[in-house]
Amino acid sequence: MVLQETFILKNGVKIPKIGLGTWQIPNGKEAYNSVKWALEVGYRHIDTAMAYGNEESVGRAIKDSGIPREEIFVTTKLPAEKKGYDIAHECFKKSLEALGLDYIDLYLIHAPWPWDRIGLDCTEGNIESWKAFEEIYDSGKAKAIGISNFEPKHIRPILEMCKHVPMVNQIRFHIGERQEETVEFCAKHDILITAYSPLATGRILNRKEIVDMANKYKVTAAQLCIRYCLQKDTVVIPKSTKKERIISNANVDFIIDDEDMKVLDRL
Ligand SMILES: NC(=O)c1ccc[n+]([C@@H]2O[C@H](COP(=O)([O-])OP(=O)(O)OC[C@H]3O[C@@H](n4cnc5c(N)ncnc54)[C@H](OP(=O)(O)O)[C@@H]3O)[C@@H](O)[C@H]2O)c1
Repeated sequence: MVLQETFILKNGVKIPKIGLGTWQIPNGKEAYNSVKWALEVGYRHIDTAMAYGNEESVGRAIKDSGIPREEIFVTTKLPAEKKGYDIAHECFKKSLEALGLDYIDLYLIHAPWPWDRIGLDCTEGNIESWKAFEEIYDSGKAKAIGISNFEPKHIRPILEMCKHVPMVNQIRFHIGERQEETVEFCAKHDILITAYSPLATGRILNRKEIVDMANKYKVTAAQLCIRYCLQKDTVVIPKSTKKERIISNANVDFIIDDEDMKVLDRL
């Protein structure tokens, strides 16, 4: 069952292949219930971020689940606009507090640049943040550390200075968006890819080619999109606030054959 399968990061830490995404789920009842349902049906990996504003509800749902902490993999992120050594330490502490946890499984730099200034060169800031990340990792408060939305040009400066190579790069990855150069670069450095927006935030689910192929496999378009990412050896973190979808999105124990993978690669 895919829900129980894991990848192993370069430092030996296991990361469940499927996680629940929580972007755009408001703090409070919605975030609490989404995480609660996901854990009830067997998810053991939750993806949040300080910027999502829902760490408090995510953490409460984790605690209330009664599932031993070490069985749940929690990712959170340093906000994209917060760059630097002190601010990284500060934000990490705040995330721990908001989540009500003693440690994070995976801490990520959310993006190489602030969202309102995409493309800005923040190399120095990212390097300073990474120094803090390495200390956090060495302290055991984060079991793994990584990056998000980083392209090779953003990763290289980190590789040149780092003691610990990032373990994960979380990037936009779905049918029609494969970021081949980044994926290849990460593979070379043993950096695992997490596919975010695997359903393109819902935008590709009505695409005829995807719907037709989903019908052929007797699955939903969402299941086909999620399975596609898994067969590309990425972790995948679909988001939903609906219990039936949270269940069906993880029910992806089928195989897309090689020919059909090639068809999807061309979309
Ligand atoms: N690192 C980053 O910069 C970054 C950026 C974006 C996303 N992420 C992470 O990746 C996660 C997933 O990405 P995402 O939130 O952009 O979107 P996504 O998972 O690609 O798609 C979610 C959208 O599809 C709908 N949906 C989910 N399952 C469905 C199903 N079975 N049938 C029909 N519609 C379905 C959801 O609506 P309902 O909720 O109504 O079901 C929602 O509108 C995020 O939540 C976040 O954790 C990270």
